[in-house]
Amino acid sequence: MKLLHIDAGITGPGSASRHISAAVVNALTAADPTLQVVRRDLDADPIRHLDSAGLATLADNEVLREFLEADVLVIGAPMYNFGMASQLKSWFDHILVAGRTFRYGPNGPEGLAGGKKVIIASARGGVYAPGAPSAAADFHEPHLLQLLRFIGIEDVAIVRAEGLALGPEAREAALSKALADAANVPATLTAKLVA
Ligand SMILES: Cc1cc2nc3c(=O)[nH]c(=O)nc-3n(C[C@H](O)[C@H](O)[C@H](O)COP(=O)(O)O)c2cc1C
Repeated sequence: MKLLHIDAGITGPGSASRHISAAVVNALTAADPTLQVVRRDLDADPIRHLDSAGLATLADNEVLREFLEADVLVIGAPMYNFGMASQLKSWFDHILVAGRTFRYGPNGPEGLAGGKKVIIASARGGVYAPGAPSAAADFHEPHLLQLLRFIGIEDVAIVRAEGLALGPEAREAALSKALADAANVPATLTAKLVA
């Protein structure tokens, strides 16, 4: 089984989404040492934004091939300016490809990339949980979920740290909880497989 580990955090060693995604990958590889981990760091090695040249070769690009080969994806996804990092949006622009990961038929769109499991390591400065005053400003997780659903991926878990900008204590509490949640991801995945 192949695990694709993606990070999009631009905040260096302090990046919360990177800490969480690494904790998820560590937990998964501890549970299954045969997992083959493939790394894609979108800050160290950014993907060129989709442009006219990229569109011409979109049906067979390296990012898409790597995605198609993965069974499990762990995506470090920080919130920047209310949405995902532009580097991560660029990655999605290279994997949502008509005829490869989705197609349109008489009944509308159909996802072609089902069967993969995705764990999103979400990090946000504010609080966007349902009922929070800023809930309507969450263009981050709903966008990620919609992109994945569109290509047929329904098996998505979110490990979240939010309220990270609300002071050192709030940050520490949110990160500790997310890292504890990350350690439980293998059990969650197994439960889903069994269910
Ligand atoms: C450029 C930038 C933009 C940000 N925009 C938002 C925002 O719109 N809403 C929010 O709640 N937090 C925002 N934050 C805070 C981040 O969501 C928070 O620092 C989180 O930890 C980012 O993940 P990272 O630590 O992996 O970089 C922003 C941070 C940066 C650096």
